[in-house]
Amino acid sequence: MSRAVGRVVTAAAEYGVARAGIAAVRALDRDVIGQAHHPRGAAGRVTGWVFAHRPSNRQRNRWVVSLLGVQPAGQVLEIGFGPGLAVAELVRAGAGHVYGLDHSAVMLRQASRRNAAAIRAGRVTLVNAPVDRLPAALDGPFDAILAVNSLGFWPAPAERLAELRRRLAPGGRLAIASQPRCPGATAATSRAAADEVENLLRSAGFTQMSTETLPLSPPVICVLAAAPGPDADHTPRT
Ligand SMILES: C[S@@+](CC[C@H](N)C(=O)[O-])C[C@H]1O[C@@H](n2cnc3c(N)ncnc32)[C@H](O)[C@@H]1O
Repeated sequence: MSRAVGRVVTAAAEYGVARAGIAAVRALDRDVIGQAHHPRGAAGRVTGWVFAHRPSNRQRNRWVVSLLGVQPAGQVLEIGFGPGLAVAELVRAGAGHVYGLDHSAVMLRQASRRNAAAIRAGRVTLVNAPVDRLPAALDGPFDAILAVNSLGFWPAPAERLAELRRRLAPGGRLAIASQPRCPGATAATSRAAADEVENLLRSAGFTQMSTETLPLSPPVICVLAAAPGPDADHTPRT
């Protein structure tokens, strides 16, 4: 083989490997996002394990619960509980009863194992359902509702938030937290996520909004809001 032909063969092989590599990374990316949205099967079990053990996830969930200032008799609902870190934290914080909903059966099993003692003690109820089909058992009223890195996966999030507002007691608190996980995410990505959540909450009729930031890389934002009191006009703002 001449040197020129050799170079062409090597270049073609490298190009093929690079293309295959890019395709594999893209497929993995799709799979990672898919598993974060709805953990299923063996890959879902690994995803749940990563959620439960990643230091940033643990810190993020602890922080969000600390922002809610849960009261001892408080009834709290978490949407998208994943492996159940925030549920465990809420129990530790002394919540009266913690309810949770997640559409992943794999996450239900992991969160149930993590919170087995509190479930046996009647302090935790976990439900396997999607957020757009809230079961009657979760009608509330709740003193607080939270969602950590989950809202971005919900269908029609403004409608979902308005439904959740109706399940809060007057003055009840909502916490929506997000740490952008897209490649290259920066503080600006987190700020944009906060703006988007604030707009959704405004149009869903929430009041008393404030945004807190946990300085991780990228920063975690948590938008806190309240359900208006009984005399308020509940018409969503557009
Ligand atoms: C990125 S994980 C976050 C899990 C957990 N909150 C945490 O921070 O460790 C998103 C979770 O939201 C759940 N989820 C996503 N879309 C949902 C939906 N439409 N209804 C119910 N749960 C949903 C997923 O099953 C997953 O457990």
